[in-house]
Formats: sequence, structure tokens, C-alpha cells
Amino acid sequence: MIPPILLVGFGKMGGAMLAGWRERGLAPSVAIDPAAPPSPGPELSIYTDAAAIPADFAPAAVVLAVKPQNAAETLPLYRRYAGSAVMLSIMAGRTIAGMRALLGEQAAIVRAMPNTPAAVRQGVTVGCAGPGVTPAQRQLCDDLLSAIGKVAWVDDEGLIDPVTAVSGSGPAYVFLLAELMEAAAIEQGIPPDLARLLARQTVSGSGALLAASPEDSATLRRNVTSPKGTTEQALGVLMAPEAWPAAVSKAIAAATARSRELAG
Ligand SMILES: NC(=O)c1ccc[n+]([C@@H]2O[C@H](COP(=O)([O-])OP(=O)(O)OC[C@H]3O[C@@H](n4cnc5c(N)ncnc54)[C@H](OP(=O)(O)O)[C@@H]3O)[C@@H](O)[C@H]2O)c1
Repeated sequence: MIPPILLVGFGKMGGAMLAGWRERGLAPSVAIDPAAPPSPGPELSIYTDAAAIPADFAPAAVVLAVKPQNAAETLPLYRRYAGSAVMLSIMAGRTIAGMRALLGEQAAIVRAMPNTPAAVRQGVTVGCAGPGVTPAQRQLCDDLLSAIGKVAWVDDEGLIDPVTAVSGSGPAYVFLLAELMEAAAIEQGIPPDLARLLARQTVSGSGALLAASPEDSATLRRNVTSPKGTTEQALGVLMAPEAWPAAVSKAIAAATARSRELAG
């Protein structure tokens, strides 16, 4: 059973988490969102602003799922919970120090970086616990985040920048691969509908195989590669040092650097 939660921001990520919590059983909880989306069930009361929250509501966690650009105006409205509830933020680029400045120095804050496969509970989230977070609060955050996929923890908050570059932005790289395969299939004369099916199903099916297999990705790749065959020809192009190895490394370094620039 998930204890009472105050969800701030009932958008894509907040909604995905909430769906997972409800499946596990959620104690009476509150969500705040200016759009006032309909409540998915009797255990969730939705208000359009923080002032409407009943005075006796005592959440175990406040989940901050608004856009990072809304943090400065939004977080101070929830300072009153900072002494009793753990603050779990999934906002990109908002550091623990930056959030403490808005929530008060006593705030126990967990900063987490999820990714969009959360929408189908296949996400991966990396959490980092700030000062004062108790083991029980960290476990509660782990439970809340595991509703949208796998969860890992780091002690060094600086690692959230490369994590953002790899798994936060990563779904876009995989979708780009599907786009490029579809376009190349069409160039080779495959009709567009079939090109789309082949690209999508190859990317999603390979992901499912990777998830289900005990083998590492390099072994699964080798399993498709017969000597002097078609795959070997293609991989000769893609794996040339100046091709994918250099491009992926540069892309992730660029995203890491951008994440550091945006942090605050
Ligand atoms: N999507 C991703 O790939 C991803 C990955 C990692 C982390 N994140 C983080 O997850 C957070 C949420 O992203 P999302 O994709 O779920 O965004 P989203 O769908 O726009 O959800 C944010 C929600 O917060 C609402 N909101 C705005 N101001 C508010 C306020 N003062 N109080 C309460 N709710 C408010 C928004 O309403 P309106 O639309 O009416 O403004 C919207 O419904 C972001 O901080 C993002 O950095 C997202």
C-alpha cells in the first residue's frame, strides 16, 4: 500500500506514476494541477492550487512533477510539508541545492531522473538522495519510482548530468534510429507502410529481446552477425571508429555538457 502522496503536476510523468501507485493500492492522496484533470478514482482529490489542500492532509511524500521552469514559483507553496514529508523531484536540471533554497534547508529531497518509457512502465529512473533523507524515505521514493520501471541510485549528484544524457534523452536516440531505418528502407524500394512496420517492430522487438535475454547487447549483436553476411557488411559501416562509436560518444558528451549548463 502506498501511503498518502501529494502529487504536484498531474501531467505525463505525474500521471504515469499515479497509474502505477493506484495499481499497488494508494491511500487517500491529493494532486495539484491548474488544468484540473478528472480524478481517476475516489482515493485521489484534485485541486487547482495548493491553497485548497485540506489543512489536515499529511502526505508521506510530495512528488514534484511540474516543468523545471515552474519550480521557482511552485516549490515555495509546499514548504509547509518539508519538515515531515520527503520531497521527490523528477524535474530535469533542478539541483538539490537549488530546491533547498526554495523549500527550506530542512527539506529532505530526493532528486530523480526518469525517462518517457515510464508511460508504459518500462522506464528507468536514477535517484540521488540529499541531506537528511532517512532510509525509510529513500525506500518510499524507490517504491514510488518503481511504479514506472526500474530504479537505480547514485550518491554523487553530479552523475545525474550524464544519466540525463544517456537514459533521460536516450529514448530520442532510439526513436531516431527507427526514423532513419524507415527512411533507408524506403530508399531501397520498400513501400512506406512496410518500411514503417519493419523499422518500428525491429527496434521494439530488439528492445524486448534485450530485456528478456540474459546475454549482453554485444553478444546479441554477434548472434545476428554471420561471417561475410549482410549484417557484417552493415556493421562494417556503422562500427567504423568515425561512425557510430564517435557519434554516440560525442552526442552523449554534448548532452551531458548541456545538462551541466542548465542545472540550477
Ligand atoms: N518527459 C520526459 O522525457 C521527462 C524525462 C525526465 C524528467 N522529466 C521531468 O518531469 C517533469 C514533468 O514532465 P512532463 O513531461 O510530465 O510535463 P507535463 O506533461 O507538462 O506535466 C507538468 C504538469 O504540471 C502542471 N503544472 C504547471 N504548473 C503547475 C503548478 N504550479 N502546480 C501544479 N501543477 C502545475 C502542468 O499543467 P499545464 O500543462 O496546464 O501547465 C502539467 O499538467 C518535468 O520537470 C520534466 O523535466 C520529464
